[in-house]
Amino acid sequence: MTSARPTTTNAGIPVASDDHSLTAGSNGPVLLQDHYLIEKNAQFNRERVPERVVHAKGGGAFGFFEVTEDVSQYTKAAVFQPGTRTETLIRFSSVAGELGSPDTWRDPRGTAIKFYTSEGNYDLVGNNTPVFFIRDAIKFPDFIRSQKRRADNHLRDHDMQWDFWTHCPESAHQVTWLMGDRGLPRTWRHMNLYGSHTYLWTNAAGEKFWVKYHFKTDQGHEFLTGEEGERLAGVDADHHIRDLFNTIKAGDHPSWVLYVQVMPFEDAADYRFNPFDLTKVWPHGDYPLIKVGRFVLNRNPENYFAQIEQAAFEPSNLVPGIGTSPDKMLQGRLFSYPDAHRYRIGANYMDLPVNRPVSPVNSYSKDGAMRYSFGQDPVYAPNSYGGPHADSSFAGDDAATGIEQEVLRSAYAKHSEDDDFGQPGTLVREVFSDEERARFIDNVSGHLSNGVSAPVLERALEYWRNVDKDAGDKIAEKVQG
Ligand code: HEM
Repeated sequence: MTSARPTTTNAGIPVASDDHSLTAGSNGPVLLQDHYLIEKNAQFNRERVPERVVHAKGGGAFGFFEVTEDVSQYTKAAVFQPGTRTETLIRFSSVAGELGSPDTWRDPRGTAIKFYTSEGNYDLVGNNTPVFFIRDAIKFPDFIRSQKRRADNHLRDHDMQWDFWTHCPESAHQVTWLMGDRGLPRTWRHMNLYGSHTYLWTNAAGEKFWVKYHFKTDQGHEFLTGEEGERLAGVDADHHIRDLFNTIKAGDHPSWVLYVQVMPFEDAADYRFNPFDLTKVWPHGDYPLIKVGRFVLNRNPENYFAQIEQAAFEPSNLVPGIGTSPDKMLQGRLFSYPDAHRYRIGANYMDLPVNRPVSPVNSYSKDGAMRYSFGQDPVYAPNSYGGPHADSSFAGDDAATGIEQEVLRSAYAKHSEDDDFGQPGTLVREVFSDEERARFIDNVSGHLSNGVSAPVLERALEYWRNVDKDAGDKIAEKVQG
């Protein structure tokens, strides 16, 4: 039977059958020359990437964020300037369960948002709660292990969970949220989203503010009782994924309003509790909610694996005008996520369409497994050939309180004998024998005579004269004749 859209191999070559392997006679053995059969089964064996070590079960959607107010007095970030509309991706998740676990187990819900901004990807990787169980990243692996499965019988275990929580009393605030109604939202639409951590905002004048994010649901808060959650876990383990997908498919677009709490930079030093402690909220009486804009989900993924399973969020993706804070949890997370992506998806995870920024990428990173994009020469910096140059005006979003003067990008502090040419000069003049010096001059001049352009050669001769005037002149004589 001919088809307008014939099945092909991965190389685009039409295949003869979707149903029958190539065999020697109808009862005969299968032939190795059936390349399509082998390709199809080999590909199948490699369909999975490792699931996320936490937040493995989830779903997501695309949408946009629109700034309806003016918060430019607090941040210069393009994504938060008045009237700006930015395309977004959100992935909702539960925390402790595996990839196929029920959506309605009691758990915090992850709310990872990617803003595809004009200044690069901005990721806000939060939860549906404003606080967390611990306040130092060093405890995170222990905390997660206590919530997952035992070593012996591979079962989840309440004793293990409470053992950890009661050893770590800083968990009390988050456990209270978890055991309350917010621990079992009816759908992902019926809950708030929080940035949870304290972040740093910097305005165009360089003034700094501490900020917390709150996305308030327009759908209202709704929750499941424990019994409803357990029943749904049995009859529809994918209740939350199904709800989001079908709602958007029906043309109903869930939305949230973003508010921020803004703390003047100086307040942090003597606020009544540590404002960077992730187990605490800032009372709204002290720092009221300031409206920023509207977050809307309006587009389902076309391919779950490519766009949701391979989506890579990282709290370290911060754009100009938004920075970190001294929150020890946030600091730990800056390392963890890109490290997890390199392991789970591969070194070039940023090359996948869902993870690529809409703004230009002028990075010096290159090659590696499954590289798709390619850079151009020059492949190094600094260079004389028009490659990208870092811009120091983008410095300043690195958090530091009390040690502002110490956190900087600088050369070593100068000592009296710090220079670049003194020691190589001594090596040429006093350590090399006459014969060694002669061979050295031959080696350098030979190297410089082979393919070095005029302006670079000029700099190289100057460089060697700075090391040793006499050796530099001899090299010049040999190269230039
Ligand atoms: C996922 C580490 C705390 C929210 C992950 C992943 C890692 C991780 C390794 C898997 C990433 C991947 O494979 O894609 C950590 C560490 C933490 C920490 C080390 C503490 C130091 C938090 C906190 C929140 C949070 C406090 C929320 C406020 C999330 C979310 C995801 C996630 C939403 C899923 C992201 C997605 O949908 O792809 N975390 N985490 N984590 N984490 Fe954390």
